[in-house]
Amino acid sequence: MNIQLDKQGRLKHFLGIEGLKRELLIEILDTAASFLSMGSVKKVPLLRGKTIVNLFFEPSTRTRTTFELAAKRLSADVLNFNIGVSSASKGETLVDTLRNLEAMHCDMFVVRHNESGTAQFIAKHVAPHISVVNAGDGRHEHPTQAMLDMYTIRQHKGAFEPLRVAIVGDVLHSRVARSEIHALTTLGVSEVRVVGPKTLIPIGVEGLGVHVYHDLKAGLRDVDVVVMLRLQRERMQGALLPSEHEYFEYYGLSEDVLEVAHPDAIVMHPGPINRGVEIASNVADGSRSVILEQVSNGIAVRMAVMAMTLGALSEYKEGK
Ligand code: NCD
Repeated sequence: MNIQLDKQGRLKHFLGIEGLKRELLIEILDTAASFLSMGSVKKVPLLRGKTIVNLFFEPSTRTRTTFELAAKRLSADVLNFNIGVSSASKGETLVDTLRNLEAMHCDMFVVRHNESGTAQFIAKHVAPHISVVNAGDGRHEHPTQAMLDMYTIRQHKGAFEPLRVAIVGDVLHSRVARSEIHALTTLGVSEVRVVGPKTLIPIGVEGLGVHVYHDLKAGLRDVDVVVMLRLQRERMQGALLPSEHEYFEYYGLSEDVLEVAHPDAIVMHPGPINRGVEIASNVADGSRSVILEQVSNGIAVRMAVMAMTLGALSEYKEGK
């Protein structure tokens, strides 16, 4: 059984894309679209009276702030806990921290942690009325990032089925890559490629339904979407790479390399970008880059996930 779903098959927690059905992913995208009108999100009273806790055990700017904005646009109250500098460092266990937050009558935990499986662990241990949303766990999954990327792809390309998508760089350490591979294959894109040096491509990744390339130009040929990944130095153990300069030479996205992609290809990156390491500045800021649109779309997509997991949408739809 997928612990993300309730008995009726509705989304209760949002922990990972793996195992979710296409219809549910489309429902998230359509719900996000309903919150966006003319490019901006209006404030709606869907989660009035609810309390959402951002529980971040790892630093983050964009993800935490867009979750916070999303909660506020839904009229919820938001608490931000930066656990690195709070109870955990005083020796309190995770379960004790949760019990205390539950005692404050919270309705949702948005969790980021450097260990894979933390959001799932929390979902199993919280009171039954609480929903848990994974904002990135180790190298496992980052499902809202994948969904905001799917939203951005759909906005630019329409149907998923004809698309070829390349995910380039440090796939090994990337929770974004893992969630995206699940999302893209579930949504039925024609081809998903992962491109990178042997040391940064997980062994057996072909089993997820992707094609592996070690040559950047070959991997980018005729693709419609290029997803660049950051080199996750903080997760690397030992020397997996010669130098950042050499990395750019072989795997950095420059205007010249991008020529081999489809003429209308879009360039994406979850951020934070490392200019001159995985992507040239003029490409990151260029006409094909949709990197900042990804950030904006993150608000509506996170609103959709929060409203769906807290079961707030039926009233909204009826009231319309
Ligand atoms: C990603 C993350 O934290 O996994 N960033 C993000 O959420 N915007 C990717 C990264 O850190 O490189």
